[in-house]
Amino acid sequence: MAEPSGLAVLGAGHVGPVIARLAVKAGYRVAIATSGDPDDIALITELVIPGAQPRWASDAVADADVVVLAIPLHRFGEVNPALLSGKLVVDAMNYWPASDGVLEPFEDRGSSEVVARRLAGSAVVKALNHIGYHELEDRARPAGAPDRRAVGVAGDDPAAAATIADLVDRIGYDPVRLESLRAGRVLQPGGPVFGTVLDRADFERAISARSLL
Ligand SMILES: NC(=O)c1ccc[n+]([C@@H]2O[C@H](COP(=O)([O-])OP(=O)(O)OC[C@H]3O[C@@H](n4cnc5c(N)ncnc54)[C@H](OP(=O)(O)O)[C@@H]3O)[C@@H](O)[C@H]2O)c1
Repeated sequence: MAEPSGLAVLGAGHVGPVIARLAVKAGYRVAIATSGDPDDIALITELVIPGAQPRWASDAVADADVVVLAIPLHRFGEVNPALLSGKLVVDAMNYWPASDGVLEPFEDRGSSEVVARRLAGSAVVKALNHIGYHELEDRARPAGAPDRRAVGVAGDDPAAAATIADLVDRIGYDPVRLESLRAGRVLQPGGPVFGTVLDRADFERAISARSLL
Protein backbone atom coordinates (compact mmCIF):
# COMPACT_ATOMS: atom_id res chain seq x y z
CA MET A 1 0.00 0.00 0.00
CA ALA A 2 1.43 3.41 -0.99
CA GLU A 3 2.37 5.79 1.79
CA PRO A 4 0.05 8.74 2.40
CA SER A 5 0.90 11.64 0.13
CA GLY A 6 0.01 15.24 -0.55
CA LEU A 7 -3.64 16.23 -0.43
CA ALA A 8 -5.15 19.56 -1.44
CA VAL A 9 -8.64 20.34 -0.21
CA LEU A 10 -10.41 23.03 -2.21
CA GLY A 11 -13.12 24.47 0.00
CA ALA A 12 -12.91 25.55 3.62
CA GLY A 13 -16.61 25.67 4.46
CA HIS A 14 -18.43 22.83 6.20
CA VAL A 15 -17.07 19.60 4.77
CA GLY A 16 -13.61 20.70 3.52
CA PRO A 17 -12.15 21.24 7.01
CA VAL A 18 -13.53 17.90 8.22
CA ILE A 19 -11.91 16.03 5.34
CA ALA A 20 -8.69 17.98 5.92
CA ARG A 21 -8.70 17.18 9.65
CA LEU A 22 -9.29 13.47 9.09
CA ALA A 23 -6.52 13.41 6.48
CA VAL A 24 -4.00 15.18 8.74
CA LYS A 25 -4.80 12.65 11.44
CA ALA A 26 -4.24 9.84 8.92
CA GLY A 27 -0.75 11.14 8.08
CA TYR A 28 -1.37 13.01 4.83
CA ARG A 29 0.37 16.27 4.06
CA VAL A 30 -2.65 18.55 3.72
CA ALA A 31 -3.16 21.98 2.19
CA ILE A 32 -6.51 23.76 2.22
CA ALA A 33 -7.66 26.60 0.00
CA THR A 34 -10.60 28.79 -0.84
CA SER A 35 -10.98 30.87 -3.97
CA GLY A 36 -9.21 33.70 -2.17
CA ASP A 37 -6.22 34.72 -0.09
CA PRO A 38 -4.91 32.01 2.27
CA ASP A 39 -4.19 34.70 4.87
CA ASP A 40 -7.95 34.98 5.30
CA ILE A 41 -8.15 31.40 6.60
CA ALA A 42 -4.76 31.23 8.33
CA LEU A 43 -5.99 31.71 11.89
CA ILE A 44 -9.03 29.47 11.57
CA THR A 45 -6.92 26.77 9.93
CA GLU A 46 -4.42 26.89 12.76
CA LEU A 47 -7.22 26.59 15.29
CA VAL A 48 -9.49 24.02 13.70
CA ILE A 49 -7.21 22.06 11.33
CA PRO A 50 -3.85 22.06 13.09
CA GLY A 51 -1.23 20.58 10.81
CA ALA A 52 -2.90 21.70 7.56
CA GLN A 53 -1.40 24.50 5.46
CA PRO A 54 -3.62 27.31 4.16
CA ARG A 55 -2.48 28.05 0.61
CA TRP A 56 -3.54 29.66 -2.62
CA ALA A 57 -5.55 27.06 -4.52
CA SER A 58 -3.06 26.93 -7.38
CA ASP A 59 -0.13 26.30 -5.02
CA ALA A 60 -2.06 23.72 -3.00
CA VAL A 61 -2.96 21.81 -6.16
CA ALA A 62 0.53 22.05 -7.68
CA ASP A 63 2.06 20.23 -4.70
CA ALA A 64 -0.68 17.63 -4.30
CA ASP A 65 -1.21 14.18 -5.75
CA VAL A 66 -4.85 14.15 -4.72
CA VAL A 67 -7.21 17.13 -4.89
CA VAL A 68 -10.54 17.07 -3.06
CA LEU A 69 -13.26 19.28 -4.50
CA ALA A 70 -15.30 20.40 -1.48
CA ILE A 71 -16.85 23.49 -3.01
CA PRO A 72 -20.49 24.17 -3.91
CA LEU A 73 -21.25 22.79 -7.36
CA HIS A 74 -22.42 26.18 -8.60
CA ARG A 75 -18.86 27.43 -8.03
CA PHE A 76 -17.25 24.54 -9.91
CA GLY A 77 -17.18 26.59 -13.12
CA GLU A 78 -14.59 28.85 -11.47
CA VAL A 79 -12.10 25.99 -11.23
CA ASN A 80 -9.69 25.94 -14.13
CA PRO A 81 -9.51 22.38 -15.55
CA ALA A 82 -5.91 22.98 -16.63
CA LEU A 83 -4.96 23.47 -12.97
CA LEU A 84 -6.22 19.98 -12.15
CA SER A 85 -4.82 18.27 -15.22
CA GLY A 86 -2.86 15.14 -14.32
CA LYS A 87 -4.26 15.08 -10.77
CA LEU A 88 -6.39 12.54 -9.05
CA VAL A 89 -9.53 14.47 -8.13
CA VAL A 90 -12.02 13.43 -5.47
CA ASP A 91 -15.42 14.88 -6.24
CA ALA A 92 -17.11 15.34 -2.87
CA MET A 93 -19.66 17.74 -4.35
CA ASN A 94 -23.40 17.29 -4.77
CA TYR A 95 -25.92 18.94 -7.00
CA TRP A 96 -28.33 20.59 -4.62
CA PRO A 97 -30.71 22.87 -6.54
CA ALA A 98 -32.08 24.42 -3.33
CA SER A 99 -28.68 26.02 -2.71
CA ASP A 100 -26.95 25.71 -6.10
CA GLY A 101 -29.93 26.96 -8.09
CA VAL A 102 -30.98 25.02 -11.15
CA LEU A 103 -27.87 24.08 -13.13
CA GLU A 104 -29.10 22.62 -16.40
CA PRO A 105 -25.96 20.57 -17.18
CA PHE A 106 -26.48 18.67 -13.91
CA GLU A 107 -30.23 18.09 -14.16
CA ASP A 108 -31.18 14.38 -14.16
CA ARG A 109 -27.59 13.23 -14.58
CA GLY A 110 -24.73 11.86 -12.57
CA SER A 111 -23.05 15.02 -11.30
CA SER A 112 -19.59 13.43 -11.18
CA GLU A 113 -19.90 12.33 -14.80
CA VAL A 114 -20.44 15.97 -15.75
CA VAL A 115 -17.53 17.02 -13.54
CA ALA A 116 -15.30 14.36 -15.11
CA ARG A 117 -16.17 15.45 -18.64
CA ARG A 118 -15.04 18.97 -17.81
CA LEU A 119 -11.90 17.70 -16.05
CA ALA A 120 -10.87 15.51 -18.96
CA GLY A 121 -7.18 15.65 -17.99
CA SER A 122 -7.84 14.39 -14.45
CA ALA A 123 -8.85 11.05 -12.97
CA VAL A 124 -12.10 11.80 -11.14
CA VAL A 125 -13.39 9.65 -8.30
CA LYS A 126 -16.66 10.28 -6.51
CA ALA A 127 -16.36 9.85 -2.74
CA LEU A 128 -17.00 11.56 0.61
CA ASN A 129 -20.11 13.29 -0.74
CA HIS A 130 -22.88 11.26 0.86
CA ILE A 131 -22.29 11.73 4.61
CA GLY A 132 -22.99 15.03 6.38
CA TYR A 133 -19.92 16.79 7.70
CA HIS A 134 -20.72 16.36 11.40
CA GLU A 135 -21.25 12.65 11.01
CA LEU A 136 -18.27 12.26 8.69
CA GLU A 137 -16.09 13.41 11.54
CA ASP A 138 -17.91 11.71 14.41
CA ARG A 139 -18.37 8.29 12.82
CA ALA A 140 -14.78 7.78 11.62
CA ARG A 141 -13.28 4.66 13.19
CA PRO A 142 -10.03 2.72 12.84
CA ALA A 143 -9.99 -0.38 10.63
CA GLY A 144 -11.57 -3.33 12.37
CA ALA A 145 -13.74 -1.31 14.78
CA PRO A 146 -17.07 -3.09 15.21
CA ASP A 147 -19.08 0.06 14.51
CA ARG A 148 -17.11 1.15 11.45
CA ARG A 149 -19.22 2.65 8.64
CA ALA A 150 -18.90 2.62 4.87
CA VAL A 151 -18.12 5.24 2.26
CA GLY A 152 -18.80 4.67 -1.43
CA VAL A 153 -15.96 5.14 -3.92
CA ALA A 154 -16.90 5.34 -7.59
CA GLY A 155 -14.59 5.85 -10.53
CA ASP A 156 -13.91 4.88 -14.11
CA ASP A 157 -10.16 4.52 -13.52
CA PRO A 158 -9.54 1.47 -11.30
CA ALA A 159 -6.10 2.62 -10.11
CA ALA A 160 -7.42 6.04 -9.13
CA ALA A 161 -10.39 4.48 -7.35
CA ALA A 162 -8.02 2.12 -5.50
CA THR A 163 -5.96 5.07 -4.27
CA ILE A 164 -9.08 6.82 -2.99
CA ALA A 165 -10.39 3.61 -1.43
CA ASP A 166 -7.10 3.51 0.48
CA LEU A 167 -7.57 7.14 1.54
CA VAL A 168 -11.12 6.40 2.72
CA ASP A 169 -9.82 3.44 4.72
CA ARG A 170 -7.05 5.50 6.28
CA ILE A 171 -9.41 8.29 7.35
CA GLY A 172 -11.77 5.90 9.07
CA TYR A 173 -14.27 4.23 6.75
CA ASP A 174 -14.75 0.94 4.95
CA PRO A 175 -14.54 1.79 1.25
CA VAL A 176 -17.23 0.24 -0.94
CA ARG A 177 -16.15 0.31 -4.58
CA LEU A 178 -18.58 1.07 -7.39
CA GLU A 179 -17.31 0.15 -10.82
CA SER A 180 -17.86 3.47 -12.58
CA LEU A 181 -18.86 7.09 -12.07
CA ARG A 182 -22.20 6.16 -13.59
CA ALA A 183 -22.66 3.45 -10.97
CA GLY A 184 -21.80 6.13 -8.41
CA ARG A 185 -25.13 7.81 -9.05
CA VAL A 186 -26.39 5.76 -6.09
CA LEU A 187 -24.22 8.02 -3.88
CA GLN A 188 -25.85 11.28 -4.89
CA PRO A 189 -28.88 13.09 -3.45
CA GLY A 190 -32.01 10.99 -3.94
CA GLY A 191 -29.93 7.80 -3.99
CA PRO A 192 -30.30 4.98 -1.45
CA VAL A 193 -27.28 5.83 0.69
CA PHE A 194 -27.24 9.61 0.51
CA GLY A 195 -27.46 11.12 4.00
CA THR A 196 -27.18 7.74 5.70
CA VAL A 197 -24.26 6.34 7.68
CA LEU A 198 -24.39 2.59 7.15
CA ASP A 199 -22.03 -0.25 7.88
CA ARG A 200 -20.60 -2.11 4.91
CA ALA A 201 -23.23 -4.88 4.87
CA ASP A 202 -26.19 -2.49 5.02
CA PHE A 203 -24.54 -0.17 2.51
CA GLU A 204 -24.00 -2.99 0.03
CA ARG A 205 -27.57 -4.20 0.56
CA ALA A 206 -28.94 -0.70 -0.04
CA ILE A 207 -27.07 -0.17 -3.29
CA SER A 208 -27.74 -3.63 -4.66
CA ALA A 209 -31.47 -3.31 -3.88
CA ARG A 210 -31.46 -0.12 -5.93
CA SER A 211 -29.65 -1.71 -8.87
CA LEU A 212 -32.39 -4.39 -9.01
CA LEU A 213 -35.07 -1.72 -9.56
N1 LIG B 1 -21.97 20.18 4.20
C1 LIG B 1 -21.88 18.83 4.22
O1 LIG B 1 -22.20 18.17 5.23
C2 LIG B 1 -21.38 18.11 2.99
C3 LIG B 1 -21.02 16.76 3.10
C4 LIG B 1 -20.54 16.10 1.98
C5 LIG B 1 -20.43 16.79 0.76
N2 LIG B 1 -20.83 18.09 0.69
C6 LIG B 1 -20.74 18.79 -0.60
O2 LIG B 1 -19.52 19.52 -0.58
C7 LIG B 1 -19.68 20.76 -1.28
C8 LIG B 1 -19.32 21.89 -0.33
O3 LIG B 1 -20.27 21.90 0.72
P1 LIG B 1 -20.06 22.80 2.03
O4 LIG B 1 -21.31 22.62 2.83
O5 LIG B 1 -18.76 22.51 2.67
O6 LIG B 1 -20.03 24.25 1.36
P2 LIG B 1 -19.75 25.66 2.06
O7 LIG B 1 -19.83 25.52 3.54
O8 LIG B 1 -20.61 26.65 1.35
O9 LIG B 1 -18.21 25.95 1.71
C9 LIG B 1 -17.77 26.18 0.45
C10 LIG B 1 -16.29 26.50 0.48
O10 LIG B 1 -15.80 26.44 -0.87
C11 LIG B 1 -14.95 27.57 -1.08
N3 LIG B 1 -14.89 27.82 -2.52
C12 LIG B 1 -15.87 28.24 -3.34
N4 LIG B 1 -15.42 28.33 -4.60
C13 LIG B 1 -14.12 27.93 -4.58
C14 LIG B 1 -13.13 27.80 -5.57
N5 LIG B 1 -13.37 28.09 -6.85
N6 LIG B 1 -11.90 27.37 -5.20
C15 LIG B 1 -11.64 27.06 -3.91
N7 LIG B 1 -12.55 27.17 -2.93
C16 LIG B 1 -13.78 27.60 -3.25
C17 LIG B 1 -15.60 28.67 -0.27
O11 LIG B 1 -14.73 29.72 0.03
P3 LIG B 1 -14.71 31.11 -0.81
O12 LIG B 1 -16.14 31.43 -1.16
O13 LIG B 1 -14.09 32.08 0.16
O14 LIG B 1 -13.86 30.86 -1.98
C18 LIG B 1 -15.95 27.88 1.01
O15 LIG B 1 -14.81 27.80 1.84
C19 LIG B 1 -21.13 20.79 -1.76
O16 LIG B 1 -21.22 20.38 -3.10
C20 LIG B 1 -21.82 19.80 -0.85
O17 LIG B 1 -22.97 19.19 -1.45
C21 LIG B 1 -21.27 18.77 1.77
